[in-house]
Amino acid sequence: MYASLKSIGAYVPSKKLTNQDFEKMVDTTDEWILQRTGIKERYIAADDEFTSDLATHAAEQAIERSGLDRSEIDAIICATITPDFFCMPSTACVIADNLGIKYSTAFDISAACSGFVYALSMAKAFVESGMKKNVLIIGAEKLSSIVDYSDRTTCVLFGDGAGAAIISATEDKKEAIMDIHTSSDGEYQDFLVTPGGGSRNPCSIDTLNSKLQYLQMKGNETFKLAVNTLTKDVIEILKENNLTSDDIDWFVPHQANYRIISAVAKKLKMSNDKVVLTVPKYGNTSAASIPMAINDWYESGKIKKGDLLLLDTFGGGLTWGSALVHFNL
Ligand code: ACO
Repeated sequence: MYASLKSIGAYVPSKKLTNQDFEKMVDTTDEWILQRTGIKERYIAADDEFTSDLATHAAEQAIERSGLDRSEIDAIICATITPDFFCMPSTACVIADNLGIKYSTAFDISAACSGFVYALSMAKAFVESGMKKNVLIIGAEKLSSIVDYSDRTTCVLFGDGAGAAIISATEDKKEAIMDIHTSSDGEYQDFLVTPGGGSRNPCSIDTLNSKLQYLQMKGNETFKLAVNTLTKDVIEILKENNLTSDDIDWFVPHQANYRIISAVAKKLKMSNDKVVLTVPKYGNTSAASIPMAINDWYESGKIKKGDLLLLDTFGGGLTWGSALVHFNL
């Protein structure tokens, strides 16, 4: 039995923030943001719209496109660093309730921007072991809830959104998720961190006054490590599967920064017309970025059934990963 990516869906909230909007909020320019990141705009959830709501919309679309009945979903994994609640219940349980799915396995994982690829690897293992038949995986983020909108070094980078996929059992090897790498190095844990609110710095007036609840990033250090680690990881997964970049239909990198994406694509000798690029319109949506990107290219008719996708991601932890996935919707 193989695991196969059978469906995709996504959701983007309606409020848009452009680079020009940020020019009025912090000391920045459209030119700086565009040159350093490639980002033009990003979307922000409403005050009464939560990560579970974004995720539910994306999941509904993926389930509908899959043709499955909701009762056939036997596991829900939500990858997020912005869960609805700090400890419990998990966002996956809230999503299950929103969808009217009872008695399925439901849990969250925290692997920052690598969350979707991590969730994909778990879904693959569930299905291939025979434990589950249809796994709903979701990357969903309301990053606006942990972004400090007075910090120009981070606030311009992030957006909100959700992407979902259905991973189902198949006997056809041509439909399979071929391989997945997931990896981490906690030595660089301070490169991307939300210092306050956990057991190390429990929420208090002091942590709030020091703004420790917000995301902090060593951008430049992360950038350099991202390019080298991603390139190495992607070269390895291709080699281990006797493939070259010519065999790939679409390269789907995590959408953090256009300069990281183009540097890695260049090192891979991947032609630009195979690179999926949504960072200009959504910014960095962390765990949601890869499924949102796949959905965009699917809806515009570029990604087609049978295409071989190379996924590639990097994020807080540090975590990273890559995957070779046949698209089967
Ligand atoms: N507008 C204007 N100037 C700015 C802004 C801004 N928005 N932000 C920073 N600057 C300034 C800095 O203060 C600095 O000024 P200085 O030289 O006077 O000190 C200058 O611009 C250069 O700053 P750098 O940080 O060196 O800029 P860099 O070229 O590295 O770009 C960026 C910053 C875009 C953050 C880049 O480093 C990056 O993309 N890093 C990787 C991010 C990433 O991939 N994260 C992983 C995933 S995220 C996750 O897991 C949640």
